[in-house]
Amino acid sequence: MDTKTDRSSLTGSEAQKPLVKIDNLFAGYDESLILKDVSMEVPDNKVVALLGRNGVGKTTLLNTIMGLVPTSSGTIEFDEQSIQDMLVDKRAHLGIGYVPQGRDIFPGLTVWENLEVGLKAGNVGKADRLDEVFELFPVLKEMLKRKGGVLSGGQQQQLSIARALLLNPKLLILDEPTEGIQPSIIDQIEDAIFAIKEKHNVSIILVEQYIDFAKNASDFFYILERGSVVESGPISRLDDELTAKYLMV
Ligand SMILES: Nc1ncnc2c1ncn2[C@@H]1O[C@H](COP(=O)(O)OP(=O)(O)O)[C@@H](O)[C@H]1O
Ligand SMILES: [Mg+2]
Repeated sequence: MDTKTDRSSLTGSEAQKPLVKIDNLFAGYDESLILKDVSMEVPDNKVVALLGRNGVGKTTLLNTIMGLVPTSSGTIEFDEQSIQDMLVDKRAHLGIGYVPQGRDIFPGLTVWENLEVGLKAGNVGKADRLDEVFELFPVLKEMLKRKGGVLSGGQQQQLSIARALLLNPKLLILDEPTEGIQPSIIDQIEDAIFAIKEKHNVSIILVEQYIDFAKNASDFFYILERGSVVESGPISRLDDELTAKYLMV
């Protein structure tokens, strides 16, 4: 089998265009090219785990999809449009919701004001969306008047995911949503991701260090090493051998 085709086409069928299609992407920072010839697909309504050890380029890839890091060459198609030269705002408007690593809520604004940022930027069914978000993260409803900065790390992460969901994204990008969060809240965040996957017509790119969770939550995986995709496929293919080779520290 032609491994190159195998890597860039997860489903092996051209029948349905994937929501995201990245081809031969090169990108990085001023002096250092980080991503080298990355090709990747995210099918409609599926969760794709983006895995790899620290420093391999996962966040850089997410930032490049979002437009925060410029594309040097290659293409990024989203919903059948070429987006690699679009500004960040325009990509967000097309339906890419980004929950960056380390969460980026506004600490000086209240929970409600943080959510309003999502509501104002989003474009559909606001009340419905709010109800859904409070169902996913009931704690936020109890804390609407608190400043974002006084919430626990886990609560801030929930707020950050909630705000991204209020944009009604077609693609939700989650960069290590459970990083540095206490176990009880990790379970809630995991449950929320399962619920989002069940209820919403949304695709998810999930960067996650907890391999078991990534396996449970995802349909497909990609492994990066030194800025290139070294393995990919249906999540059932992610066995102990691959985990030991590319993911164990
Ligand atoms: N803003 C930046 N400027 C220059 N180099 C960066 C920047 N951010 C990350 N890098 C470098 O890019 C590489 C990939 O980092 P990153 O994408 O954050 O990896 P990961 O998310 O997989 O841990 C690392 O070598 C890192 O030092
Ligand atoms: Mg990272």
